Amino acid sequence: MKVTVVGAGNVGATCADVLAYREIANEIVVVDIKEGLAEGKALDIWQKSPINQYDSRTIGSTNDYSKTAGSDVVVITSGLPRKPGMSRDDLIGTNAGIVKIVTENIVKESPDCILIIVSNPLDVMTYQAALTSKFPRERVFGMAGILDTARYRAFLAEELDVSPKDIQAVLMGGHGDTMVPLPRYTTVGGIPVTEMIDPGKLDAIIERTKFGGGELVKLMGTSAWYAPGSAAAQMVEAIVRDQKRVFPVCVELKGEYGIDSCYLGAPVILGKNGIEKIIELQLNDSEMDLLKTSESHVREVMNVLENLQ
Ligand code: NAI
Ligand code: 2OP
Repeated sequence: MKVTVVGAGNVGATCADVLAYREIANEIVVVDIKEGLAEGKALDIWQKSPINQYDSRTIGSTNDYSKTAGSDVVVITSGLPRKPGMSRDDLIGTNAGIVKIVTENIVKESPDCILIIVSNPLDVMTYQAALTSKFPRERVFGMAGILDTARYRAFLAEELDVSPKDIQAVLMGGHGDTMVPLPRYTTVGGIPVTEMIDPGKLDAIIERTKFGGGELVKLMGTSAWYAPGSAAAQMVEAIVRDQKRVFPVCVELKGEYGIDSCYLGAPVILGKNGIEKIIELQLNDSEMDLLKTSESHVREVMNVLENLQ
């Protein structure tokens, strides 16, 4: 299997590293526009192989897309990250142009690939990649839900003093402050979380999750990369190994949840064909209200993108 990661920055390099050391793909190509960066990161990852014991080949390229030809899966991480005080939506002007040109280059070389978008603002950059690639929604979708859910699960594990492995959860909606956590669908080793935690503490964890990305930007002056890079690699693994994993993924809804032509996070089954099924949960009225609020917000940013085209 051949996987390309576009953007050799913090998230892209982390994703490539996880793909290599977990031997998720035997050929990994990393591309960046900055001269030498992708080659350097790829070489560094390859030189780690005898230490971490893997044989996946990692190749870097400065904007030469011929090296990406025939990729099965492509992860797009190129674009500016947030700085303190910025929202993800503030990145649209620069990142839409980057995602558009990168998608054009990728599609020329790998017309049958599956595209996973990471660049922000995530939901709308997924829309941009879909507009440019003209791929069906099963083959162009975005990573955010795994990351947001991981943050929520990690906070819960810390509060309850249990293993994060035993927390199962799903979040929906856009990748931003309007994301929709669903405590009704959160379990701790199969036990509903509501039986394990004080409601006030659960609410505080939900609030912290919504602003989880911003918390890290404030601490580091740029956005996170270990969890985002690993989350993108986990999606690649589900596809490459046809695992049929159930993950929240940003996908174009076409009537599901009563929402049409909008890119939002929803639980899906991920396998060798990309999105194999969108799962429709029976949301209650208050959960549906939150999802509609998130939809309105994402639609506003989608409109901004349409005006930029
Ligand atoms: P970074 O600045 O470390 O890396 C971005 C890389 O993209 C740079 O190396 C840059 O040279 C490259 N690049 C820019 N234009 C390019 C082009 N036309 N072709 C190829 N490469 C190009 O940023 P980082 O931290 O890796 O974040 C990348 C993106 O991912 C940002 O937009 C960030 O907001 C987003 N992000 C999304 C997350 C999510 O949950 N969806 C989580 C974390 C970050
Ligand atoms: C995050 O949530 C910046 O979207 C990125 O960390």
